[in-house]
Amino acid sequence: MKQRHASVLACILCCCALAHGALTARRSLLGSGKNKNKTDTSATYVYAWAGPKNASLGGKDSIFVISLADGEYGKIVSVVPTPYSTLEPHHCRISSTRKYMGCSGLFAAFSGIPGALFFELSDPRTPKLVDPAKVDQPKHSAFADEFVATEDGGFLLTMMGTPTGGSPGRVAHYDKDLKLIGEYPDPVKFPQVEGLNPHGLGVSWVHKTMLTVDFFEPASSMAGRTLKLRSTVRLWNISDWTISETIDASMIKNVSGPMDAVAIAETGAYFFGGGNGYVYYLDGKGPKPHVPVVAWDGLDGNPNRTSFGCIMHPFRNGTRLLAAMFVRDQVQLLDTTNPQKLKLLDTLQLPKGAGGHAVRVSRDEKMGAVATYYLEQGARGQLHHEGDLTIRLFGLNDRATKFILRQPAKSLIDFKTVAKKQGPFRPHGIAIY
Ligand SMILES: *[C@@H]1O[C@H](CO)[C@@H](O)[C@H](O)[C@H]1NC(C)=O
Ligand SMILES: *[C@@H]1O[C@H](CO)[C@@H](O)[C@H](O)[C@H]1NC(C)=O
Ligand SMILES: *[C@@H]1O[C@H](CO)[C@@H](O)[C@H](O)[C@H]1NC(C)=O
Ligand SMILES: *[C@@H]1O[C@H](CO)[C@@H](O)[C@H](O)[C@H]1NC(C)=O
Ligand SMILES: *[C@@H]1O[C@H](CO)[C@@H](O)[C@H](O)[C@H]1NC(C)=O
Ligand SMILES: *[C@@H]1O[C@H](CO)[C@@H](O)[C@H](O)[C@H]1NC(C)=O
Repeated sequence: MKQRHASVLACILCCCALAHGALTARRSLLGSGKNKNKTDTSATYVYAWAGPKNASLGGKDSIFVISLADGEYGKIVSVVPTPYSTLEPHHCRISSTRKYMGCSGLFAAFSGIPGALFFELSDPRTPKLVDPAKVDQPKHSAFADEFVATEDGGFLLTMMGTPTGGSPGRVAHYDKDLKLIGEYPDPVKFPQVEGLNPHGLGVSWVHKTMLTVDFFEPASSMAGRTLKLRSTVRLWNISDWTISETIDASMIKNVSGPMDAVAIAETGAYFFGGGNGYVYYLDGKGPKPHVPVVAWDGLDGNPNRTSFGCIMHPFRNGTRLLAAMFVRDQVQLLDTTNPQKLKLLDTLQLPKGAGGHAVRVSRDEKMGAVATYYLEQGARGQLHHEGDLTIRLFGLNDRATKFILRQPAKSLIDFKTVAKKQGPFRPHGIAIY
């Protein structure tokens, strides 16, 4: 057993080293070229998962395909609609085999439509919706949120609540053929799990642990209810998909409504956003109890800790992190070499009121995109954070220490005007092919 772990680790290290060498060589070849406008990336398309602001104008929840190719950089080259317009398009993730993209519909349960949707990517320019009638939907949980790609080509997906928006939610598991193989923890063995409303999740496959963070109980966000914000984070044992430890983080600088969690490479440690502008570090290794520590203040000492959420993207080797701070209209590029004490390398400053929410980088970590819409529930609910309804593309320099904007005008895709007759769209999920 130990030996197998060691060889898996050796392979990961070795592959990283090879990939890193190849990447450096390619960068030095392309980096000195004359065409400074060309982003040195192998990424080809950015997928934006967006829904119509006013569905009565005929728009559908759709994937907007933004090209990164020369000559059409920043252009929407196809739009793939679903039959729905009340999903509340949320997060997206491409599978490790690049065969499928999973996209969630946070409020699908309110309309009795499927919340776990998948697109087939054999033609990456025109993803094809997999017939939702042929995909099993979780039965014990709903309010689909964030995906993580599993090593075998499937997905894990956080489900924030029960089918009626109560507690507990679960983590759903799809295999590489999109078969639903579990909802965790097993509802038969664990029918009640107090306050389990998972939003973000990170996994360490080597250490066999997972971190999920509880955000809020979905139905409690509706108008006239008291918002049940959670402050618990959960460490899991993924050998049997059970929760091994529930950590109440409310005492650590008032964690409330932690939204996102990510793994720090394969170190067995994680970052999560506390819902209060702080980014926390939690090492999941070793015996209980595990105690989170503050690793970064995304609000730069501001006494007003209102944050309106923070979505993060970790780089593969664990030395960089992007954190989108909605309330500051920023994406922060952080050096995480010391994961308990992060350092700010650069800031992508958006205009006041823009927001800044889902953020992702390409597989080669040379470019990225940020969507500015978070959630606007209108008269039905309590969350009103619409941002400026844009997707912004950015580049990163060779050492990933700076943002680069090579074609600023083309790097801004305005979803207020992408569809003329159907009115503004709200882009939330992002994935980069
Ligand atoms: C590079 O960008 C500049 C400024 O955006 C533009 O004027 C120029 O035409 C671009 N050159 C190429 C080769 O795309
Ligand atoms: C939505 O569009 C319909 C049809 O044009 C219009 O009557 C209605 O006022 C719009 N609603 C909002 C909230 O803008
Ligand atoms: C995880 O679960 C497996 C299977 O039940 C068990 O053998 C193992 O000891 C557990 N690991 C930890 C760290 O508790
Ligand atoms: C902790 O955060 C919650 C929700 O944001 C807020 O209502 C409460 O006043 C805060 N408590 C302290 C001690 O700051
Ligand atoms: C704290 O910041 C939020 C977000 O900018 C703002 O809406 C709120 O009014 C501020 N609260 C105080 C007491 O200044
Ligand atoms: C980690 O990844 C970044 C971004 O790809 C790269 O610039 C950096 O050199 C890498 N660091 C190591 C130690 O491999």
